[in-house]
Amino acid sequence: MPDIGQLREEYIGDGLSRDQLAPDPIEQFRRWFAQAQDAGVPEPNAMTLATVDSHGQPWQRIVLLKAYDEKGFVFYTNYESSKSKQMDGNHLVSLHFPWIPLSRQIAITGNVEKVSASESLKYFASRPFGSKLGAWVSQQSQVISSRSVLEMKLQELKEKFRNGEVPLPSFWGGYRVQPKTVEFWQGGSNRLHDRFLYSRGSGEEWEIKRLSP
Ligand SMILES: Cc1cc2nc3c(=O)[nH]c(=O)nc-3n(C[C@H](O)[C@H](O)[C@H](O)COP(=O)(O)O)c2cc1C
Repeated sequence: MPDIGQLREEYIGDGLSRDQLAPDPIEQFRRWFAQAQDAGVPEPNAMTLATVDSHGQPWQRIVLLKAYDEKGFVFYTNYESSKSKQMDGNHLVSLHFPWIPLSRQIAITGNVEKVSASESLKYFASRPFGSKLGAWVSQQSQVISSRSVLEMKLQELKEKFRNGEVPLPSFWGGYRVQPKTVEFWQGGSNRLHDRFLYSRGSGEEWEIKRLSP
């Protein structure tokens, strides 16, 4: 086995201080997201979604952030997938952005809810033809015998919708994670990283606390 115990990077960021922080985490997220894009972080909207099943077992997978605002963070998926069944049973989820090239991570916890059908439809309509068909083809998370099952179904659907609009599948749409906490983490030298945790206070105000690395 190769020895990976000595693999380590020294982080040399400018650090993060409280006076640089926006008063609310959505604005802070917007600033960091723009910086991740400018820095060429690959797929900066790829985020890990953690859900918990009925046995208390956590699961994780990557999904793409497609919108965000003060109401929350939106992604799209198959409503009959494993993750969706887990979220139907337990609305508490967590999101995580690993922006390693910037020595940054953002970790979010919150409640998830489905977006409206009209919001899903609007986004679905903006997807390329192939992605629309992909949503129809895949019974996400189900066991299948081979890849050819998918390819045959795709061919059928290409024929079927050749001249028409691809409708929004009833089993496909968005979820919105309403944040309860958002942590911004900036790697620093000698493992003295900066961590700031936003959480909802008693009212609508956000409290910001510095955490030890
Ligand atoms: C970069 C990347 C982006 C992905 N984006 C999505 C997405 O937006 N929605 C989605 O349902 N699956 C997406 N996937 C696939 C998921 O990671 C996952 O395999 C799939 O949703 C099934 O998860 P589940 O069986 O836990 O429900 C993406 C995978 C990768 C690697």
